[in-house]
Amino acid sequence: MTITDRSTSDRGVAEVPLAASTVHASKVYGKDATEVRALDDVTVGFETGRFTAIMGPSGSGKSTLLHCIAGLDTLTSGSAYIGETDLSTLDDNHLTVLRRDQVGFVFQAFNLVPTLTADENVTLPLALAGRKGDRDWIDEVVRTVGLEDRLDHRPSELSGGQQQRVAVARALASKPRIIFADEPTGNLDSRSGSDVLQFLRAAVDDFGQTIVMVTHDPVASSYADRIVFLGDGKVVDEMVQPTAERVLDRMKQFGD
Ligand SMILES: Nc1ncnc2c1ncn2[C@@H]1O[C@H](COP(=O)(O)OP(=O)(O)O)[C@@H](O)[C@H]1O
Ligand SMILES: [Mg+2]
Repeated sequence: MTITDRSTSDRGVAEVPLAASTVHASKVYGKDATEVRALDDVTVGFETGRFTAIMGPSGSGKSTLLHCIAGLDTLTSGSAYIGETDLSTLDDNHLTVLRRDQVGFVFQAFNLVPTLTADENVTLPLALAGRKGDRDWIDEVVRTVGLEDRLDHRPSELSGGQQQRVAVARALASKPRIIFADEPTGNLDSRSGSDVLQFLRAAVDDFGQTIVMVTHDPVASSYADRIVFLGDGKVVDEMVQPTAERVLDRMKQFGD
């Protein structure tokens, strides 16, 4: 299957290049009696400059899909692409470089380094890569995320919402091709959660960032341009321009 075959044109919508995709992706954990098919023949594309949410019941394969596309885990069969690069063709070194330069990740637990300031946390991945980064860009990200006057604070001196905004700024700092976020608002109250979601939305609208976010929350998913629904390791439905009401109806219809 060629890249063109995986483009959006066959769905009758304007053609947008894919920032990441899978083709017939399957992931099996364990063997024989303990075998779990976490992903079962998933073919899905994530368009550049769009915000996509992934929803589905607990255990439906959402995290596994994110980890396999982000190069944090490997597929059992099928292919995962970042841009046009098939991750299975890369050795460990090239995979590490691709992850570092092209992929940002935001986790549910903010995963900040407690002994470093907010500013040091934002620039840490660049520092580890021996790069200075684009300071004007980082300043703009920090301003947009509303952290200018918190840069000298350590994570313990910040609220949960502020810590997650540091984590999102860290993901944006290297201008990755795509950011994956796994339940980024799962540990936040609704007010802090909506701050983080507004910032993710602004990163897409103002900076052209591509974001793929796993969430359980219909309100969170309504910030996305499109939702991909997973069930038992398969793509079971999609929704474009979602609203929280339509997502709730969809979840009631099929159960969660
Ligand atoms: N490392 C692992 N070893 C064995 N089974 C796993 C592992 N990671 C995930 N699974 C199983 O794969 C399925 C999908 O898990 P996951 O992708 O974490 O789902 P979700 O993020 O949608 O809750 C579940 O049945 C889970 O128990
Ligand atoms: Mg998960």
